[in-house]
Formats: sequence, structure tokens, C-alpha cells
Amino acid sequence: KKIGVIFDLDGVIVDTAKYHYLAWKDLADHLGFEFTEAHNEQLKGVSRVRSLEILLDIGKVHLSEEKKQEYLLSKNEHYLEYIYKMGPDEILPGASELLDMLDELGFHYVLGSASKNAPLILKQVKLFSRFAGIVDGNSVSKAKPDPEVFLIGAEKLNLKPEHCVVFEDAIAGIEAANRANMISVGIGDKDVLHEADFNFKNLTEIPNDFFTRKVSEKIL
Ligand code: G6P
Ligand code: MG
Repeated sequence: KKIGVIFDLDGVIVDTAKYHYLAWKDLADHLGFEFTEAHNEQLKGVSRVRSLEILLDIGKVHLSEEKKQEYLLSKNEHYLEYIYKMGPDEILPGASELLDMLDELGFHYVLGSASKNAPLILKQVKLFSRFAGIVDGNSVSKAKPDPEVFLIGAEKLNLKPEHCVVFEDAIAGIEAANRANMISVGIGDKDVLHEADFNFKNLTEIPNDFFTRKVSEKIL
């Protein structure tokens, strides 16, 4: 059976949440309220614009549309300072090995991320050229949990959604994969990602026969 894989980026391939946190926290400091790492959990998998709205809700701050645009820009510039310092040593454990496994099986994979910075991040960690395609925040009109990002991914893979496996660390991403009729794999806390078809703590836990047995059994 032909199987294709769609990877979320942040929290699955690399841990950029900490950099988003530092950049958002800086903005919260500037606006005069506290923004904790627990707050930051709410921003995972969420689009940039939506992230700002959530942040402003937390601080109970109201801003003009113009100010919002200005802060979106400055936050991203600050975030990019961290991204430009990233290298292949920041690839999360198990990710490179998983891509190797897929290469050996001859299964293609694409990226399905909400981030507009996804191509840059993949280049920084030297994984860009390994992906058969990139679907990122620039190519979608509807954010996760809308399935759009993954459905475009399936088109790039030339596969039916039922033959695609999605790796995700965010609740919204698992929901998007399920709505797309794909096989969803939750990476992280299985109590949080309980709607996923499969759960693993991290990518090092994926067994060698995961695609040839577990996933194949699910595809009729
Ligand atoms: C990913 C991250 C989110 C982030 C979003 C947009 O989904 O998990 O935390 O807000 O991408 O990222 P961007 O790089 O475009 O600001
Ligand atoms: Mg993610």
C-alpha cells in the first residue's frame, strides 16, 4: 500500500515554541502584563494573528488594527532573531531517523504547518530539500483545526487523504487530521491528544513496523 506522511513542524520536527514564547513574552512585558509558559501552551498550533488575539485577551488589552499589525511585525522580527541562530542540532530526537525510515520504505512526506516561517526553519536545520512539498501558513486560507492544510498536503503527495498519516503535537492539528479523514498520530501528552489514532511521547518511540503493520492495518 502506498502511504504518505504529513508532518507538522513546530513541536514535531523542531522545538520553536520556546522562541515564540520569548518573543511573545517580550511584547507582553512591553504592554505591561504577565505572560507565562502555561499561557504559551494556548498558542501552540495556532496562527500568528490568532496568537496575538489570545495574548491580548490574556492581558485584557485592546489595540487598534494598526497597532496589532505593528506588533505582529515586530514580534516576528524578534522571533526570527532566534530562528537565524538555529542549526541541525535543534532537530528533535527521532525526527531524522523517522525521515530515514520513510526514505527506505519509499514513502513520500510533505510539511503541513501553520507557520509562515516554515521554509526558513527547515533550511536552518538543513531538512528543507528532504520534503517532497511544503504547505505552510502562506499557502492556506483556513487555520487548523480546518483540514485545508493537510488536504493540500495530500494533493502534493498525490494520495487520497485516507492514505495519509499526520504527525501533530497540537489538539487543533489532530482535529484537522481527523476531519481530513487521515490517520492522526499525536506526539506529546496522550491525555491531551486523546483524539489521535495513535499516540507517542516523542518520535523516538515510533516502532520500526509502525508503517508496515500498524498503519497498513488501518488502511483498507
Ligand atoms: C505553528 C506554531 C504556532 C505559531 C504558528 C504560526 O503552528 O505552533 O505557535 O503561532 O505556527 O507561526 P509563524 O511562524 O507564522 O508566526
Ligand atoms: Mg505543532
